[in-house]
Amino acid sequence: MIKKCLFPAAGFGTRFLPATKAVPKEMLPILNKPLLQYGVEEALASNINNMAIVTGRGKRAIEDHFDNAFELESQLIGTEKEYLLNDIKHIIEKSTFTYVRQRKMLGLGDAILTGRPLIGNETFAVILADDLCYSQDQGVLSQLIETYNKYQCTIVAIEEIPMDKVNKYGIISGKPLDGNKDIYQVTKMIEKPKLGESQSNMAIIGRYILTPDIFDILKEIKPDENNEIQITEALNIQAQNGKVLAYKFKGRRFDCGDVKGFVSATNYFASKFI
Ligand code: UTP
Repeated sequence: MIKKCLFPAAGFGTRFLPATKAVPKEMLPILNKPLLQYGVEEALASNINNMAIVTGRGKRAIEDHFDNAFELESQLIGTEKEYLLNDIKHIIEKSTFTYVRQRKMLGLGDAILTGRPLIGNETFAVILADDLCYSQDQGVLSQLIETYNKYQCTIVAIEEIPMDKVNKYGIISGKPLDGNKDIYQVTKMIEKPKLGESQSNMAIIGRYILTPDIFDILKEIKPDENNEIQITEALNIQAQNGKVLAYKFKGRRFDCGDVKGFVSATNYFASKFI
């Protein structure tokens, strides 16, 4: 059973500057809810109650958001606005939140390794909250967990993207598993291949189930030319040593770390919920 979800949330969010100079990217709202809250709700909907968050300098608003706010609450109590805090209070009551700080922004792989003391030696979920996922029926993380329960190995969520965007993603190659067109056994992964050099358009998005051997693999990985430790490199090793599956999720995903993706998500959620 998967009990913990790791949220790497230490990145600088440079694509969203100047908004992210003092405000964590993960706290930017789609409608009236911060991105990270959507992620935590997705984890809760998958029966995960332990949220492990990798933060960094300037990210304190995240901890405040998932904590009681006595002054505000006592001001609203008994007024017609009291209900506005119901959702977040419910989340706080149902979850535990633990935090660790990534001291140097050495990439997603390093952020996940930084989360090791919060996870321990068990299989865990990862949500990148700036990849906002929406699925009317079953949440994307829940779909991944269902797949994990069947195959008991690392699972990455993938999406087919336009060929002219492959240079922005980790791209997998693989063969369909058990004749299933939604699940692939990964044979290779390439981080941000050059345009024209990739045969595949299957991109890894911000949802993973990782078995704990990933930590020892990450420890050995050297930073790349951009001084980042890439999770794709660790996953590649895992795929060679054993089995990594890629799961084509059902639903929509918006890259909210990018202004255009953020606007699309806002419009989509507004058309659905306002
Ligand atoms: P991104 O690739 O979106 O990087 O990280 P970023 O720094 O947040 O944003 P840009 O590209 O500069 O605009 C993907 C996820 O990994 C986390 C981010 O917080 C985000 O959730 N991350 C990335 C870390 O936690 N630490 C890092 O060193 C890098």
